[in-house]
Amino acid sequence: YVLGLDLGTSSLKGDLLDESGKTVCVASTEYELLTPKSGYNEQNPNDWVQACYRLFEKMSQKISDFTSNLIGISFSGQMHSLVVADEDGNALRPAILWNDVRTTKQCNDITENFGEEILKITKNLVLEGFTLPKILWIQENEPEIWKKVRKIFLPKDYLRYFLTGNFQMDYSDAAGTLLMDIKEKKWSQVILKKYNIPIEYLPELVNSFDFVGNLDENIKKSYGFKNNIKIFAGGADNAVSSLGTGLNDYETAIASTGTSGVFLSLEDSIHNEYNGKFHLFNHALPDKYYSMGVTLSAGQSISWFKDLIAKSESYDKFLSNVSDVPIGSNGLLFTPYISGERTPYFDSQIRASFIGLNDTHSLDDLKRAVIEGVTFSLKDSQVLMESLREKEFRRIISIGGGAKNKEWLQIQADIFNTQVVTLDTEEGPGLGAAMIAAMGVGWFETVEECVAHTITYINKIDPISENVAEYKKIYELYTQVYPYTKDITH
Ligand code: XUL
Repeated sequence: YVLGLDLGTSSLKGDLLDESGKTVCVASTEYELLTPKSGYNEQNPNDWVQACYRLFEKMSQKISDFTSNLIGISFSGQMHSLVVADEDGNALRPAILWNDVRTTKQCNDITENFGEEILKITKNLVLEGFTLPKILWIQENEPEIWKKVRKIFLPKDYLRYFLTGNFQMDYSDAAGTLLMDIKEKKWSQVILKKYNIPIEYLPELVNSFDFVGNLDENIKKSYGFKNNIKIFAGGADNAVSSLGTGLNDYETAIASTGTSGVFLSLEDSIHNEYNGKFHLFNHALPDKYYSMGVTLSAGQSISWFKDLIAKSESYDKFLSNVSDVPIGSNGLLFTPYISGERTPYFDSQIRASFIGLNDTHSLDDLKRAVIEGVTFSLKDSQVLMESLREKEFRRIISIGGGAKNKEWLQIQADIFNTQVVTLDTEEGPGLGAAMIAAMGVGWFETVEECVAHTITYINKIDPISENVAEYKKIYELYTQVYPYTKDITH
């Protein structure tokens, strides 16, 4: 077997693959999200390591020959989240996560003084979620901690450090730190010098497919693993997840609805003309890039709403009646900006809205409006991307919560006005990580061969033209809400 570990924002998920490329077991273990203040999101890095050990135990309970047959592990991880540690890798404070927005001041400072240079080197705008502003926040607000820092990690690199003892980071994740020259694939001396970050604090840069060490002997013994277990670097969750959907052409995009929502497409080169309008990062596939727009609160808008009114209900049950509500939720519109928005507004201060409420609206109308609003927000990225590329997407692979609900899939096809497909084993990042390990141990020679053995598309959903026309009108209204509500919270 090989194991793909996806270190997400709410849990560590494992996808176990056998030599034929079939997923034989998925399991997950959860950890806590710490929210010490509004806008602050933290996690204890040690919880990730403990979750990994629990996952090993869970897998061995479920699969009797797990420990005797595991030969490789790779990773996918939440991007940008900052872990600062001492020389031995002990975390000096909780990790500051990608969805933590405390760094507006640092972002403004960097943008004013060095924004153009950063865009030139990293091809990205300076945003609260990214790693560099988080480092500056620690330098400014916790100087006593900064003094002790000797190692800087991203989450999955921290976990991998505990499993191998080696200090490394792959290009796809390093691209989201704002510290790497994404064309040269080197830490940027210019940026490091400007912000007083010694290069020794940063990990060695490697490719996602690189072999980076063996599983530590003590861990191997404690869990009863029989083989030498090879570890491969892995990558940023969005890059690895795109690998796990089989995305391999430029006419297909991915619409993903996790905690955040992502609209992503593969790029064969660095498009300067995007000019920061999208994130542009190195892919896990060597010498490829990907661009993406992000809706900060996609699944999070739904979980917020569900927790408010039916905390213990499953998502299936919660969304079961949305198909009875007509398109447009009986005149109700939702903008999903509950914790700010990235693409296309890059505004961490904007907040969400329900517009058009009347006294006949039911909870089901509100639920459908939330789903439609999240999809409109992904549509914003699609529209912008298609206009900059001067080409429409032919197909969209839907993954995440939005792919698990039939009605929502039709809503996506209608709002995107594009055919939507889903996958039979929809483990996105976990599967992508397992694919990296499968190729690493030599089961498949090429990515194409690996995809052919691991991925099957099911559910082709075509847009229905009357629905497309109705949604087009509502989307026009949706795009007008932002400028009118932006000052409410500013
Ligand atoms: C991407 C981003 C999120 C995280 C989620 O820029 O911040 O999609 O990667 O884990």
